[in-house]
Amino acid sequence: MAKKLISVTVNGRVQEKAVEPRTLLIHFLREELNLTGAHIGCETSHCGACTVDIDGQSIKSCTHLAVQCEGSEVLTVEGLAQAGVLHAVQEGLWGGLGGTATAGS
Ligand code: FES
Repeated sequence: MAKKLISVTVNGRVQEKAVEPRTLLIHFLREELNLTGAHIGCETSHCGACTVDIDGQSIKSCTHLAVQCEGSEVLTVEGLAQAGVLHAVQEGLWGGLGGTATAGS
């Protein structure tokens, strides 16, 4: 299948990539951009492990195609830190799991 060039701003950085039209956003983030903070859980839109923000709206990235994000701004958990300081969500993930959470797992 022919790939489509998309331009998406992810965590403040413009990303231009050629993707297959069927590529789910979660796979685009994890496999193309190596942003593994959003996880693949159920892939049926029930668990929320894949949640990211698109243009300020929380969505489940297992239900969106990467091509649907053309021109959008995507924010993942990796993009929440500001000036090197972890966001409360990041702190919660780290502290709530007893320091055993590993980014990229
Ligand atoms: S992977 Fe469970 S809601 Fe997306």
